[in-house]
Amino acid sequence: MAHSTLPFLFMLNGKKILLGVTAGIAAYKAATLVRLLVKKGAEIKVIMTPDAQTFVSPQTLSVLSKNKVEVDFFTPDKVWNNHVHLALWADAFVIAPCTANTLAKMATGLCDNLLMSVYLSARCKVYVAPAMDVDMYQHPTAKNNIQKIISYGNIVIPPENGELASGLHGEGRMAEPENIVSFLEKEFENHGSFKGKKVLISAGPTYEEIDPVRFIGNRSSGKMGIAIANAFAHEGADVTLVLGPTHLAPNSAVKCIRVESSNEMYANCTEAFKTSDIAIMSAAVADYKAADYSSQKIKKKEDTFQINLTKTTDILAELGKQKKQQCLVGFALETENVIEYATKKIKAKNLDFIIANSLQDKGAGFATDTNKISIIDKGDKVFDYDLKSKEEVAKDILNFTLNYLKK
Ligand SMILES: Cc1cc2nc3c(=O)[nH]c(=O)nc-3n(C[C@H](O)[C@H](O)[C@H](O)COP(=O)(O)O)c2cc1C
Repeated sequence: MAHSTLPFLFMLNGKKILLGVTAGIAAYKAATLVRLLVKKGAEIKVIMTPDAQTFVSPQTLSVLSKNKVEVDFFTPDKVWNNHVHLALWADAFVIAPCTANTLAKMATGLCDNLLMSVYLSARCKVYVAPAMDVDMYQHPTAKNNIQKIISYGNIVIPPENGELASGLHGEGRMAEPENIVSFLEKEFENHGSFKGKKVLISAGPTYEEIDPVRFIGNRSSGKMGIAIANAFAHEGADVTLVLGPTHLAPNSAVKCIRVESSNEMYANCTEAFKTSDIAIMSAAVADYKAADYSSQKIKKKEDTFQINLTKTTDILAELGKQKKQQCLVGFALETENVIEYATKKIKAKNLDFIIANSLQDKGAGFATDTNKISIIDKGDKVFDYDLKSKEEVAKDILNFTLNYLKK
């Protein structure tokens, strides 16, 4: 089998980018970021938080961006810096670095500086590159705030792992300016590329009832499928997400149908599939359910107890049989012979391609923030991807789908 990766076309020329700089040590990298974006032909305006000025000088960013840098609501001669105009001017608003403090304000809507008022007035996509020390980044409040701002439709450019200014090692370093630029290039390349397309995604586990209090379930959190649903919605698709039991939620642009059992998931998926252009089935549907449901709680009596199981409907295989115009994509989570098993599923279930991941890969699979996938097409060609955040993996899947549909 051939292994390869996909090329991208990049395009920032003529784009109006508002760069928000906050008071993290990584603010010095904003100068490089401005320089790289200007080199790509983008028009840049910079807004800083008052504290950010102690980390990088507004003069430097002004010279590099060839524009005035805005910090305050009013200029020194008491003229209002119209934050609404600034917000509407931009094709994209990039906040890099984004401190834990600004992240918290974005999560709650606190508006006590120019940058925050522009953020709250922005109609364009907002990209956030968090930058903080490893423990700050791991703090539950930071994690929750990141989930919150994603659910509001913002896009997080994940921080990188490495040496931090504190001398500690770990996750939290702002993405390198070069990586922020390529992230934005991919965004602009695909912008609106799924407009008019109906996309069905399934995600999460299923719960198969045994009695009123017990069920057969699995460890899926739905994170991967939710990230895919968000990514397609972000590119203009009309997305229906059929989501098994999980406390997580997609962003508000996604139509979310919450289900519990494999039967419910099957019924909702087949209905939505009829009018879909693309269907990506990432849910971890139970293979078996209890043959007999007990309407009363089963009492503890014998030392051993047996439950008869019966097969659930294979949703992916059923959709494969019903498939007409749709591009149908499956997921294969295996613990061994990943590529071999996944390849067999393509033919057996009439798929266009399959996304394989292995529970043996560190950081891949259930309930993690990261995943490592391989995509296998109908010609048995294997495309391997690195370990990435699930948001980035979702983008790779979106890009692969886009290229597949263009062929
Ligand atoms: C030397 C120094 C480095 C800092 N680095 C960071 C950082 O990398 N990330 C962060 O979230 N906060 C960092 N802080 C704390 C922020 O500067 C502080 O929370 C500030 O109020 C953030 O303001 P802003 O979000 O309005 O820009 C640092 C503070 C100091 C003194």
